[in-house]
Amino acid sequence: MNDRVLRCSSLRKLFKTEAEVLEILKGVDFELEGGVSSSITGPSGCGKSTLLSILGGLDKPSSGSVVAAGVDLSAAGEEELARFRASAVGFVFQSHYLLKDFSALENVMLPAFMLSGDRAKAEAKARPLLDAVGLGDRLNHTPSKLSGGERQRVAIARALINDPAIVLADEPTGSLDEANAKAVEDLLFSIVAERGATLLIVTHDARLADRAHRRYHLSDGILSEL
Ligand SMILES: Nc1ncnc2c1ncn2[C@@H]1O[C@H](COP(=O)(O)OP(=O)(O)OP(=O)(O)O)[C@@H](O)[C@H]1O
Ligand SMILES: [Mg+2]
Repeated sequence: MNDRVLRCSSLRKLFKTEAEVLEILKGVDFELEGGVSSSITGPSGCGKSTLLSILGGLDKPSSGSVVAAGVDLSAAGEEELARFRASAVGFVFQSHYLLKDFSALENVMLPAFMLSGDRAKAEAKARPLLDAVGLGDRLNHTPSKLSGGERQRVAIARALINDPAIVLADEPTGSLDEANAKAVEDLLFSIVAERGATLLIVTHDARLADRAHRRYHLSDGILSEL
C-alpha cells in the first residue's frame, strides 16, 4: 500500500451534548495521494477542524473508516495511534503551540528526540530545517523573541522534522500579515512538494485555497470537490 495515501470513506462524526446530538460530518469520502496538495474551505463551525483532528489521529470518527499512511485509524489502538501521530503526521495550527521556555532549535528538535531518544541526531535534523525556513540565525531565540511569522515558520519546521507522510494545516496563515502569510504558504507547498507528502490545508482564504492542486468545500456535513 502507498504509505503516503490518506483515504476516508463514509466518515461520520456526532457530538452528543446534554441537549442534543450534533451530526457534524455526515459521510465524508475522499482519497488523497502523496505529492498532491488539497484545501478545504467551508463556513465557521461546519467541521473542518473536527475532520483534521480525525485525519491526524487526535479524535475518533463515530463511524466510517480512515486509512492514513498505511494505518487504519478507526481500528487502531492507543499505542498505534500515538506512534502514528509521532511519526506519520505533521500538524500546523493557526496558533503555533511552541513551548515558551524552549529555543527555536529545541522546539523543532523535540518531536525527533521523542521518537529516537538521540539528541545529536535530532539536532542534526533540526538545523537544516530551520535553515530551510530562513531561521538559521534565530536558533537560540525563544518564541517570545520571535515575530509571529517566524514562530509559524518554526512550527512548520517542527511539523516536518519526522518527515511525515501527511501534513495537516489548520488556518496556518490566519494570524499573519500578507507578506508573512505568503512566505509561510510558499514554504509549506515547496517543502511538501519536495518530500512527496500529502498536504491538506483548511482555510477561509480563497486565494490560499486556490493554490492547492485540489479544492474541497465542506458544508452541512458533506465534503464536495470544487
Ligand atoms: N467536543 C465537542 N462537543 C460538542 N460539540 C463540538 C465539539 N467539538 C466541536 N463541536 C462542534 O462541532 C462543530 C464543528 O466544529 P469545528 O471546530 O470542526 O468547526 P470549523 O469548521 O473548524 O470552524 P472554524 O472555521 O470556526 O474553525 C461546531 O459547531 C462545534 O461547536
Ligand atoms: Mg476550525
